[in-house]
Amino acid sequence: MTIADKDLIDAAKVARENAYCRYSGFAVGAAILDDNGNMHVGCNIENAAYPLGNCAEASAIAAMVLEGGNRIVRIAVVGGSGDIAPCTPCGGCRQRIHEFGDDDTVIITMDDSNDWQQYSIEELLPASFHLP
Ligand code: THU
Repeated sequence: MTIADKDLIDAAKVARENAYCRYSGFAVGAAILDDNGNMHVGCNIENAAYPLGNCAEASAIAAMVLEGGNRIVRIAVVGGSGDIAPCTPCGGCRQRIHEFGDDDTVIITMDDSNDWQQYSIEELLPASFHLP
């Protein structure tokens, strides 16, 4: 069975409902399609010690690695409304996606208006740092 973009977006929306975002009130969900055809989801998890918070993308990547996925084929990120939409991945998460992505990795963002955009990691993180 092929997981379609709509399935990924729907899964990210469901994951977003579990976001633990009591400090920012900004809920984000993410869903990854991996190289095995499996899906992994995550949400943002904040902490009273603010820098310890996890982004939704980081949570989804952690789930992917734990569940045996190797590469991000597609990742949907759902979050944001009004002036803070769409929720494009933060700088750190761009680097995280780069670690497990490749030239063909697709990053889909969707906000509360259901407006969506599609990016490559090269668009989001040009001239990236990586090791051989
Ligand atoms: N956040 C994410 O989960 N993903 C992003 O790409 C951007 C920001 C979270 C972090 C924090 O919990 C909240 O959104 C507000 O910054």
